[in-house]
Amino acid sequence: MGHPRVDAIAEEARQAVSAARTSAELEQIRVRFLGRQGLLTQLLRALGTLAPEERPLVGAAANETKRELEALLATRLLATQDAERRVRRATERLDLTLPGRRPPWGALHPLTRVHDEIVSIFAGLGFSVAEGPEIETEYHNFEALNIPRDHPARDMQDTFYLSESTLLRTHTSPVQVRTMLAQKPPVRIIVPGRVFRRDIADMSHSPMFHQVEGLAVDRSITMSDLKATLELFAREMFGRQSRIRFRPSFFPFTEPSAEVDVLCFVCQGSGCRLCKQGGWLEILGSGMVHPRVLKNVGYDPEEVTGWAFGMGIERIAMLRYGIDDLRLFFDNDLRFLRQFA
Ligand code: PHE
Repeated sequence: MGHPRVDAIAEEARQAVSAARTSAELEQIRVRFLGRQGLLTQLLRALGTLAPEERPLVGAAANETKRELEALLATRLLATQDAERRVRRATERLDLTLPGRRPPWGALHPLTRVHDEIVSIFAGLGFSVAEGPEIETEYHNFEALNIPRDHPARDMQDTFYLSESTLLRTHTSPVQVRTMLAQKPPVRIIVPGRVFRRDIADMSHSPMFHQVEGLAVDRSITMSDLKATLELFAREMFGRQSRIRFRPSFFPFTEPSAEVDVLCFVCQGSGCRLCKQGGWLEILGSGMVHPRVLKNVGYDPEEVTGWAFGMGIERIAMLRYGIDDLRLFFDNDLRFLRQFA
């Protein structure tokens, strides 16, 4: 059987296969003999150039060698792959007892936490969240809120003016005006947002900070509604035994106006470092919406009344977590932030 030319190739292939040690080497052999440009392939393709009487002999021998080689390669491949797997398993063994690598978990910023808490307390009371622009008109930020032209708050010293009549809002109160202009009473909203004042940053000042405004307008809303609402807020925010007190104050857009203090939750009023011996901590400004403000937005002060408050989120967070420097909120020092993880 066979043909000298084919036998030579067959012998060469057998030797190559028996010398091969890896599946990669076997693949090289397959390509060399059986690939598109392989020796056997070329031989079969060139049958037509042989003498007619040689063709069937060479053809049969080449085809038989091809089948033999394919079978040989397949068997050897199984064996080498098996051996290779065993080597890999031994050398690349996984240690399943190694502790995993923990991806670094982020955490909510303390201001975000306090913000979320305030929002959820008032959401539970039926208030919805409203928002407004940080770039405001002088009208919404001051005029409509009954803040007169000569009021010190309007001074270039205190306010970032962007032009004659536009500015960075100095409080969230302009959103009271925007909301009331856009909808009829009743209104029950809280307004979280950033506010801006021309202050030099120190322990208790920052040119940018956060406020939450509250506003309720309806028929026969009274100051006792305000007090009850804020009492509930203080209990949720500072604990069951928490108490608040109203101190007479002044804001151009509320009448009467009151500042609200919460009983110091560290010393229960007996005096300590947190409350600077005073026993009480100031948490917000509030009052009954001034009739002139209601008129400015087209509400009838004879028909509806309302209350409003505004509190600083940083201030609440500092009290809650015992933080003594406002700048810590904005430095983004991970040693500080990690304490809230
Ligand atoms: N807008 C006031 C401030 O920034 C706070 C306030 C809001 C007071 C609503 C009364 C009513 O200080």
